[in-house]
Amino acid sequence: MAIFSNLKALPNPVLLLSLLVVLACFTSPSAANFHKTAEITWGDGRAKIIDGGRGLSLSLDNSSGSGFQSKNEYLFGRFDMQLKLIPGNSAGTVTTFFLSSQGQGHDEIDFEFLGNSSGHPYTVHTNVYSQGKGDKEQQFHLWFDPTAAYHTYSIVWNTQRIIFLVDNIPIRVFHNHDSSGVPFPKSKPMKVYCSLWNADDWATQGGLVKTDWTKAPFVAYYRNFNISSCAAGGACDSRSENSWQVYELNAKERNRLRWVQQKHMVYNYCADNKRFSQGTSHECKRSRF
Ligand SMILES: *[C@@H]1O[C@H](CO)[C@@H](O)[C@H](O)[C@H]1NC(C)=O
Ligand SMILES: *[C@@H]1O[C@H](CO)[C@@H](O)[C@H](O)[C@H]1NC(C)=O
Ligand SMILES: *[C@@H]1O[C@H](CO)[C@@H](O)[C@H](O)[C@H]1NC(C)=O
Repeated sequence: MAIFSNLKALPNPVLLLSLLVVLACFTSPSAANFHKTAEITWGDGRAKIIDGGRGLSLSLDNSSGSGFQSKNEYLFGRFDMQLKLIPGNSAGTVTTFFLSSQGQGHDEIDFEFLGNSSGHPYTVHTNVYSQGKGDKEQQFHLWFDPTAAYHTYSIVWNTQRIIFLVDNIPIRVFHNHDSSGVPFPKSKPMKVYCSLWNADDWATQGGLVKTDWTKAPFVAYYRNFNISSCAAGGACDSRSENSWQVYELNAKERNRLRWVQQKHMVYNYCADNKRFSQGTSHECKRSRF
């Protein structure tokens, strides 16, 4: 029996050919060199490319924060970044990793990390803007300490959905409900932006806890910045096993998403009937998973 099934498992030429095609698609992600993929845009020396281009540090003190952005812009793609957030007292600070288009009625997909006083958890803030309109916040506490080590934060953006992932665990899916009149970002190319800035008027416990400048400079670390997207000419680069262009959650991922949303979500615009007294947005009425 075993021999028989081994024989059956031998590759035939067609299979071999498709395997080669698949392998070719996995190569050459736009990987991981900040010198190549990013440019520092503000902070007067407070942003630094380190580790020969593999890493980047942002710093914030009482006179300025700092930031960088991708050199190119992208229409859909998968965007991965590893971050190590500010340890200790990070109250009042906001560290970001987001996509945004430019100009009027902009689109935006946000990961923002709201600092906290020592011993209190960071809040991961997510939002989606389309045609200039946001109001789609979901916030989470993490199941690990994001200041102790690097963790991977990813945005998958295709024509069907936007998926936010933390260490490859989906924490949020925003489906395209364009056909029901909910605008979805689908026509404006976006750049990747990252920044570290002071927002102690609102960020921590609603603005009650201020930045302690005696602890400055505050430093956040970025590394392994990867982008998988399509070139303007149409050639696409899909690195992951689960190609970003058709990425939808499998059963296991839906379970993880449910776990995150039930155990770790601390704010959901879809459940905020006080704020949206006229009724929450259409996509909220659909199944969340
Ligand atoms: C900012 O920090 C520097 C260095 O700690 C300090 O000398 C200066 O007084 C501070 N400035 C303000 C406006 O707080
Ligand atoms: C800070 O800690 C408080 C209390 O543990 C928590 O309610 C809050 O969500 C945390 N995050 C921020 C950004 O305030
Ligand atoms: C980016 O790609 C490189 C090489 O493919 C990989 O080693 C690294 O882990 C990736 N980074 C992230 C954040 O996924």
